[in-house]
Amino acid sequence: MKIKTMAVLLLVLLLCAGSSIAQDLLSPSVDIIAELEKLKHMDGRIQKLEETLTKVLSENEALKTEVRDSQNKLETVQKESEALKTLVQDSQNKLESLQKENEGKKVAFSAGLLASGTGKIGPIGDTKTLEYKKVFSNVGNAYDSNTGIFTAPVKGVYYFRFYGHCHDGTTMAISLLKNGQSQCSVHAWKPASNGNASNGVVLTLEIGDKINTVLWRNTWVYDDPASYTSFSGFLIFPL
Ligand SMILES: *[C@@H]1O[C@H](CO)[C@@H](O)[C@H](O)[C@H]1NC(C)=O
Repeated sequence: MKIKTMAVLLLVLLLCAGSSIAQDLLSPSVDIIAELEKLKHMDGRIQKLEETLTKVLSENEALKTEVRDSQNKLETVQKESEALKTLVQDSQNKLESLQKENEGKKVAFSAGLLASGTGKIGPIGDTKTLEYKKVFSNVGNAYDSNTGIFTAPVKGVYYFRFYGHCHDGTTMAISLLKNGQSQCSVHAWKPASNGNASNGVVLTLEIGDKINTVLWRNTWVYDDPASYTSFSGFLIFPL
């Protein structure tokens, strides 16, 4: 009995609610035509938005392409820059090795026979290497004033010359030797008062070739502070 009463009450309530909704739909405050018009407008706006979106998307694609192109260009430039760096480094290395090589190729010396005072060498019983003691210059240190011997530091073409002075009627004879072999000589046969003689030669030398001058046996050579007697040489160019 109690359940039956509750079901009836519920039915009454549902009916009341239903009639209220129906009343809303039919009320003049809901203008369906106007709503449809609004929807039409909205459709147009959506179409415009779609068009704008398409445009923006295609612009975005173009930008993407541009960025990719720029990246490719940048990569090319970076590669070129690396290649240039390598080239510069190689050039620097070559320059340094050339400079080092060139340093070793500066060879020139000049020396007078006596370091000081006046004097003579000879006549002596045997041929003797002349030791020129007054060193004017010795770039490259190829000339040794202790032995009078020049040792070629690089392969190349060299020029050597020597000058001898004597007096008092004694013969002077000097030769320039390469590795012990006579290359060129001077000779003054018993000059009545005094004698001067000079010779020079261009020689192709290998590294280590030795050049010196010798005074022949029973001859003599003179020198004083004017350095009449001297020996010089220099590298003309390396080979
Ligand atoms: C050799 O040279 C010296 C120095 O220049 C000079 O005084 C002398 O007269 C020269 N001797 C001869 C024979 O020309």
